[in-house]
Amino acid sequence: MKFFVYHTPELAPANILPDCAIVVDVLRATTTIATALNVGAEAVQVFSDIDQLMQVSEKWPADKRIRVGERGGAMVDGFDLGNSPLSCTPEVVKGKRLFMTTTNGTRSLERVQAAAVVLTAAFINRRAIVEYLMTKTPETVWVLGSGWEGNFSLEDTACAGAIAQNLVNEMGYPLDDFAGNDEVFAAISLYLQWQNNLFELLNHASHGQRLLRLGSYEDLKYCAQTDILDVLPMQKEPGVIVKSDIKKQSLQFWMEAPKT
Ligand code: MLT
Repeated sequence: MKFFVYHTPELAPANILPDCAIVVDVLRATTTIATALNVGAEAVQVFSDIDQLMQVSEKWPADKRIRVGERGGAMVDGFDLGNSPLSCTPEVVKGKRLFMTTTNGTRSLERVQAAAVVLTAAFINRRAIVEYLMTKTPETVWVLGSGWEGNFSLEDTACAGAIAQNLVNEMGYPLDDFAGNDEVFAAISLYLQWQNNLFELLNHASHGQRLLRLGSYEDLKYCAQTDILDVLPMQKEPGVIVKSDIKKQSLQFWMEAPKT
């Protein structure tokens, strides 16, 4: 496995795609996606463009759709929810499709939506992503941070490091063979420095500070937790992300396969 980290979608190479692309937007799109799917949302369909979201969602039954949108951290006018993962309770989202547009996360997803496998990751579901990679061992993996309007964000690269570090530990890969670019070393170092203080890291992050100014302290606390949800969000058609049970099937197969 060759593992690459890109801090923002703009830094990923054009005209090629990996076998498996993992999009990260810890604050907050991919944390919200994991949370919504974990409590039974039917799917999350993502759009970078608000008008396109309105057109597509208009065709969906009104009692089965929720429009989730944020610009600059604040809810889009006329939408049902902003992008807080804490709004995604079973009462609100179960059985419904979330039509989501966000400032950065949905743009990253569009950048890699033609890859063979597209997953979304945050700290809260990091372990589910690692277990998928351990069982499927794709040849090339990209972790794509979402950043903020083209710029680096601390939290996304730290989450990329959390995935890489856990995988290297579990699989015993020599780091020089595993790392496809220098960013992998940087991401692991960042994660190792902050792994026991992720909430503090989110407080230092520029988008963390923006969210705090908007009163989203509880969101930061939630987004800073690691491995609390066993959910694997996977794209099933361009832009549509569902909860996948592939990881569980593979692990079960491993456990049941006759030992030779
Ligand atoms: C984004 O896509 O930029 C974020 O998810 C923003 C947010 O939720 O505050």
